[in-house]
Amino acid sequence: MERVLSGMQPSGYLHLGNLMGALRNWVRLQDRYDCFYFIADWHALTTNYTEPSVIKEYSRDLLLNFLAAGLDPRRCTIFVQSRVLEHAELHILLSMITPLGWLERVPTYKEKKEEIRDRDIGTYGFLGYPVLQSADILIYRARYVPVGIDQLPHLEITREIARRFNHLYKAEVLPEPEPLLTEFPKVTGVDGRKMSKSYDNCIYLNDPPEMVERKILTMVTDTQRKRRSDPGDPERSPVFQLHKVFSSEEEISEVAEGCRTAGIGCIDCKRILIKNVFAVLEPIWTKRKELSERPALVGEILEQGVQKATAAARETMAVVREVLGMY
Ligand code: TRP
Repeated sequence: MERVLSGMQPSGYLHLGNLMGALRNWVRLQDRYDCFYFIADWHALTTNYTEPSVIKEYSRDLLLNFLAAGLDPRRCTIFVQSRVLEHAELHILLSMITPLGWLERVPTYKEKKEEIRDRDIGTYGFLGYPVLQSADILIYRARYVPVGIDQLPHLEITREIARRFNHLYKAEVLPEPEPLLTEFPKVTGVDGRKMSKSYDNCIYLNDPPEMVERKILTMVTDTQRKRRSDPGDPERSPVFQLHKVFSSEEEISEVAEGCRTAGIGCIDCKRILIKNVFAVLEPIWTKRKELSERPALVGEILEQGVQKATAAARETMAVVREVLGMY
């Protein structure tokens, strides 16, 4: 089976946007590929270096949610980046051959530097973020990397770094990975903007059911529909955007029609959404509860993943060291 690799930063609790946009896709890929999935805790440190202990808490949450959402340790390799030190070794080697200009022109670098004003991210580590990501990917010689379009510039750099490495050391050791772009549903937050922790508009996987319910019940809808008897425009309602992700075709057309004709009220519409969001979350909550009662099992799963990842990483590093010829 061809190898797939992807990582997620533990920079916050996992929310519905992460689940529907990425994690569910990872779950689907498990049967078709030799999948390696990891928690990119060093990457989280690039922007949150003042609070490493928070990263630990988010990593734990991410691991539980990976498993609760259906990543199966028998069918994929799950690990934490900082537990496989070889990533750091390859990172330093790649940093030697990566021109600064490549990093400075990454769009996410410029954007984030503008965006993040409350912390100083004028650091070496933050500029080198894509080099670390390249090491993550190349150390497993992954063929495909499932990511969202925002990550394409990083993947392009990875390909360039691989090419440069192979060219400099005259050996085809690091294959160029390809993005695996799937149609990700865009999950709207409770305020109508993209669901994102920086907007504080998320429904988290570890929100208790009452909170999920309350978050949905207090969402704005079509603000121009003042009374229950007024016809509305579903496209103006963030609730409807969420229906598009969580509801069946039938329900989507029913609520749209009901909104346009004032056939249903906003509360009715929200109740249907709550039912469907619960249908996605309930099995995750159940599994998560089971897992949190068995910390030894979760620990064991992680240890095994770390071992498998380490073995694969060491194989690549042996070849890399050999072609470098300096050790
Ligand atoms: N940069 C990715 C993100 O923020 C996380 C990540 C780190 C990653 N290393 C990776 C994704 C390697 C894919 C492959 O989403």
